[in-house]
Amino acid sequence: MLIQRGIQITLCFLFLSVSLFAQNVTKTEKTETNSSASHTKRYTYRKKHNPNGIGKFYMGREIAHVMGFGYRAGGAKWLERETREKEEKISLLAKSLKIQKNDVIADIGAGSGVISMLLAAQLGQQGKVIAVDVQQKMLDRLKKNLKAKNITNVKPHLGKSKSPQLAKNSVDLIVMVDVYHEFEYPYEMMLHLCQALKKGGRIAFVEYRMEDPKVPIKIIHKMSEAQVKKEALQEAFQLKFVETITVLPRQHVVVFQKKDDKKK
Ligand SMILES: C[S@@+](CC[C@H](N)C(=O)[O-])C[C@H]1O[C@@H](n2cnc3c(N)ncnc32)[C@H](O)[C@@H]1O
Repeated sequence: MLIQRGIQITLCFLFLSVSLFAQNVTKTEKTETNSSASHTKRYTYRKKHNPNGIGKFYMGREIAHVMGFGYRAGGAKWLERETREKEEKISLLAKSLKIQKNDVIADIGAGSGVISMLLAAQLGQQGKVIAVDVQQKMLDRLKKNLKAKNITNVKPHLGKSKSPQLAKNSVDLIVMVDVYHEFEYPYEMMLHLCQALKKGGRIAFVEYRMEDPKVPIKIIHKMSEAQVKKEALQEAFQLKFVETITVLPRQHVVVFQKKDDKKK
């Protein structure tokens, strides 16, 4: 009888230990799922979506397709079109950014180099533009354009979809013309971009104005000023809003600055 009772107690104890262990495992699994869930929650996916988007959503907007090179059919040719200056007055952009002669500027999503070359014209001998793109074909075209114009202060640089592959604290100004809305990983890109900025360095988002229905660009390639601010002012990036430059007829230029710990 006593032996039977003893076996019962031991079994009970064993059962309790096993279920407590199981609970712990489930708890850990839940936390892990939660942390990966918060990661997956950052991006959500929908089957039904805008055909010009990739079906991936971030902070309430769909991410657009990356513009392909396709020189003959569009892409680089469209970026280099003769009417661009008349339509978009992009030369005003470089002049409005208060560039210092010896600045190191990263032109992210440089494409075939139209903007990089305008920025380079604002710099002196000590300054340079790092022209970053994820498409080697765009960079090859950019190199050809630089050679044709004998421009030596623009350095082509191959980036990755999650990172521009720039050194930390190395850049005074980051310029992103019509590209941020097509970053496949905007959060990861922003983390790396902000690391690449020097303290007090600036980052400029140049996006077609969503607020203006007359801007003749597909809606998925537009961003409102409020959306840009919502995305850029996340705690992790340590940015503060500086100004919105409104000299361009189609795009707004929303500028932020990397916080300097000493000047809080
Ligand atoms: C619409 S084009 C704009 C080109 C240029 N900024 C201009 O206005 O002439 C966008 C470019 O960004 C590039 N791009 C897309 N995602 C990128 C990323 N994560 N990092 C760097 N470049 C990217 C594309 O390959 C494409 O060449």
